[in-house]
Parts: sequence; C-alpha cells; structure tokens
Amino acid sequence: MDELIAKGAEMIASAQKILVFTGAGLSTESGIPDFRSPGGIWEKYDPSDFYFQKFISDEHARTTYWKMSREFYSLIKPASPNRAHLAVKTLEDHGKLLAVVTQNIDNLHQKAGNSPEKIIELHGTLISVSCLSCKKKYDRDEIEARFDSGIKVPYCDDCGGILKPDTVSFGQAMPQEAMEQSIRYAGQCDLCMVLGSSLVVYPAASVPMHAVQSGARLMIVNREPTPQDGEADLVVHMSVSEALTGMLRLLFA
Ligand code: APR
Repeated sequence: MDELIAKGAEMIASAQKILVFTGAGLSTESGIPDFRSPGGIWEKYDPSDFYFQKFISDEHARTTYWKMSREFYSLIKPASPNRAHLAVKTLEDHGKLLAVVTQNIDNLHQKAGNSPEKIIELHGTLISVSCLSCKKKYDRDEIEARFDSGIKVPYCDDCGGILKPDTVSFGQAMPQEAMEQSIRYAGQCDLCMVLGSSLVVYPAASVPMHAVQSGARLMIVNREPTPQDGEADLVVHMSVSEALTGMLRLLFA
C-alpha cells in the first residue's frame, strides 16, 4: 500500500489544478452513514419513498421523508470534518485546488474551511429548506423548531406551498449551473481525485469521466471497487482519511 500512497503523493505534487470529487464515503468517519455500504442509508430506508414525485403528490410520503431527513440532520448538525476533509482544505492552502465537486449534503467541506466559492454541491444541502412554489428560503433549524413544536409537515408562511430541504431527490432536476460548472472544471483540471464515492449515480458520476476525456489524470480513493477503476491512473482501496493523510505527510510534512 505504501507504493500506492507514494504514487498518489507524486500525482498531487505534479498537479496544479486538482478537481476533488467527493461522496458519502468521505463523511463516514465523521459519523454520517453512507448510502450503499452495509448498514448504509438505503438498507434502512426504501429509496422509492424519496422520489420527488411522491414527495410532492402525497402528504403521507412527505411525513416519511421528513422523518428520515430529521434523523439525517441530527447526525449532520453536530458532525465535524474528519482528516479527509481537512486534507482537501490543505490542498487549497497549497494553491492546488481548482474546486471541490461534492455529492454530499452535510456542509462538511464548508466546516473544514474550504472557500465556499470553490465548493459545488451537486446534490444540494441539508442545512436550508425552500418553498417549492415561491422559493422562499428557510434556515433548517427554524424548520426543526416547528417539528419540535408538534407540526408533522411544514408549509410556506407566505404562500402555503410545500417546503422541502434544499437537497436534490431522485427524479428532481439537478442544479443546472452547478452541473455545468462542474463539467467546465472537469475540462480544466489536470488531476481529478475521487474520494469516497461508489460512482453509480448519474449525472454526478460523469464528472470524473469528463476530466479523463479532457486529458486529466484520475485517482480514485474508495474502500470498495468502483465502475470507473479501470479508467484511473491510481486506485487506492482503503480509508480515505488514511490514504490522504499519508499522501500529504509525504508532501507537506
Ligand atoms: N474511506 C473510503 N471509502 C469509504 C469510506 C471510508 N472511510 N466509507 C465508505 N466508503 C466508500 C464505500 O465503500 C462506498 O463505495 O464510499 C462509497 C460511498 O458510496 P455511496 O454510499 O454510494 O455514496 P455516494 O457515492 O456519495 O452516493 C451518491 O447516491 O443516494 C444518492 O444522493 C445520494 O449523493 C448520493 C449519491
């Protein structure tokens, strides 16, 4: 494994414009379960309960959705960035980070100190809520307080519309500008580092492939194999915080 870490350090050393692409595997060491590992979210909840069409058409579905979202938020609110997040911040500190494109909704890249303008949240964020009709935005803690006071499903104060966390659900349109910006960055980077993602959800998972097609090198750090391992210049199947800490120790210690 040491030779893989050394190769990863060399790839980071020779890169100037790194596009970091992250998934839920980056946050498991912060106490937030991922989706597809054993015991992950999709073992506990049925993904079909979280399709956007179901959410907007059925108040019972919204009750189920908010129950899961509240459970997830109770893990995310107190969570701290782990060594993997801090390693990504170190890449920015050394002027090597073009952008972080994340599928995560946990705000941990922001908590780790990366510049907000360098963070693209492809699947939105759990820390704010919006009205699907008039787009009025609410702080998540304000909506949590309404649940604590006994409401089951929140609606908009201004127009009575359906409120939903600012995450992207299956069947919901991806944030167009975020996706387009991610593809632009993929075309500009010289190294794409995939950290903690199973790379099975599209269109997000097309970002690393776009980087490879644009001539960038690809590094995948993930505990399990991914469908894109064959395209990578380096694959490291181990803890993402262990791997990154090891690489950065060789570079910046
Ligand atoms: N170190 C390295 N890899 C890890 C670690 C860790 N500490 N913990 C988990 N992993 C790996 C798992 O083996 C898994 O392959 O991270 C990967 C996480 O994959 P998923 O759970 O599928 O998460 P992600 O790829 O982010 O899912 C993409 O799917 O359900 C949707 O919207 C959701 O954004 C999510 C999207």
